[in-house]
Amino acid sequence: MARAVWGSRLGFILAAAGSAVGLGAIWKFPYVAAQNGGGAFLLLFLVMVFTLGISIMIAEMTVGQISQKSPVGAYRYFGGKPWSLVGYIGVACGFLILSFYSVVGGWTIFYMVQSVDGSILIPDTLLLKQIFDAFITNPVEPLGYHAAFMAVTAGVVLVGVQKGIERVSKSLMLMLFLLILVLIVRSLTLPGASEGVMYFLTPDFSKVNAKMMLEAMGLAFFSLSLGMGCMMTYGSYVSNETNIANSAASVVGLTTAVCVLAGLMILPAVFAFKLSPAEGPGLTFIIMPAVFSHLGGGQFFAILFFFLLFVAALTSSVSLMEVVTSFFIDEFNMPRIGVSIIMAILMFVVGIAASLSLGAWKEYTLFGSNIFHLLDYVTSHLMMPFGGIMITVLVGWKASRPVAARLALADGTNPWWWPAMKQFCRYIAPLLILLVLFQNL
Ligand code: PHE
Repeated sequence: MARAVWGSRLGFILAAAGSAVGLGAIWKFPYVAAQNGGGAFLLLFLVMVFTLGISIMIAEMTVGQISQKSPVGAYRYFGGKPWSLVGYIGVACGFLILSFYSVVGGWTIFYMVQSVDGSILIPDTLLLKQIFDAFITNPVEPLGYHAAFMAVTAGVVLVGVQKGIERVSKSLMLMLFLLILVLIVRSLTLPGASEGVMYFLTPDFSKVNAKMMLEAMGLAFFSLSLGMGCMMTYGSYVSNETNIANSAASVVGLTTAVCVLAGLMILPAVFAFKLSPAEGPGLTFIIMPAVFSHLGGGQFFAILFFFLLFVAALTSSVSLMEVVTSFFIDEFNMPRIGVSIIMAILMFVVGIAASLSLGAWKEYTLFGSNIFHLLDYVTSHLMMPFGGIMITVLVGWKASRPVAARLALADGTNPWWWPAMKQFCRYIAPLLILLVLFQNL
């Protein structure tokens, strides 16, 4: 069968942005930034995004585009058999991320339902916190939502690249962007909000430490979908003539904008409602209902918000599943339908453990972390940075000629930034990632 291709360049950019913009930007970024001191973290995050993030985005997409393969095949194409191992690790990483991602995806459905019956539209953040905690620690209820989220994800992947993924991504991204802008205005005009703005935008450098650097780097990988072959897979569906570098820059810019806007939407409200910035994974789910309760037509906006958050999560989960699915299609010639269903069931099972580890299985920990946090930590703090080292080494050394040739496609001359990017990929990027990792050992 001929390899699938995107319908248009815009379709590709929106699908890649759909993969990147998701729970990472709107759920994870605000609580991690809040936990890590606000402004200084934001600055570190931006540095990571505009050095490592942009280079790795271009590198992954180009490698996918040239090889026309998903990660295992793409690494093998350029580096021979030993390199394919990096691709396998990427596939495993996608599997592990989706297992817990789908649990949080389920939370967005639960909050959509709660917005419809209006029960969460209350200003009392203490009560909202109790509702959130009671829900996620419940041994049964979140599993149903987790199952539903996984089923929808598999459903989209089943339908295939262009019809399924591209269509969903295209239609709803813009709406999400606009809604966030509206919500920022409400959040910023709450009494006491300015303290949150200060916290988020003024860097306090005395707070910078090794752990914070790792958090910023891990979050940059996670929220840009890098280091595990996802953008490589999406790049492999791009036709040969498409200019990848511009697309990559658009995706990075758009995603970073959503991260910063999500911070501006949530952190001022956190201070206005006197919630602790160290709240953790519940932050978005606790604070946004309180914001809606202070907004005219709050229920309508609440339903819309959680619906769009669900869609943003879905366009990301679909890309995670696509990495796993395309691996089995490319390597073993297996049928798309069968693979997506079997993988969805397996990831659902691992996700059950992640969900239970927040309540009933709280006691089972490793290095002091429960299963949920362990899956999160291992993927974005170890596996994705590892993938980042390998892709920059590949593009800086082994594949630098074909990559340069592809990037020069339009007029035959290398883009002005390529020499800098090449040196960055050869030396600085791998060393920077290693340094951040080792500082934390
Ligand atoms: N970037 C996605 C998000 O922020 C998560 C993701 C990671 C998707 C890795 C694909 C690959 O929600």
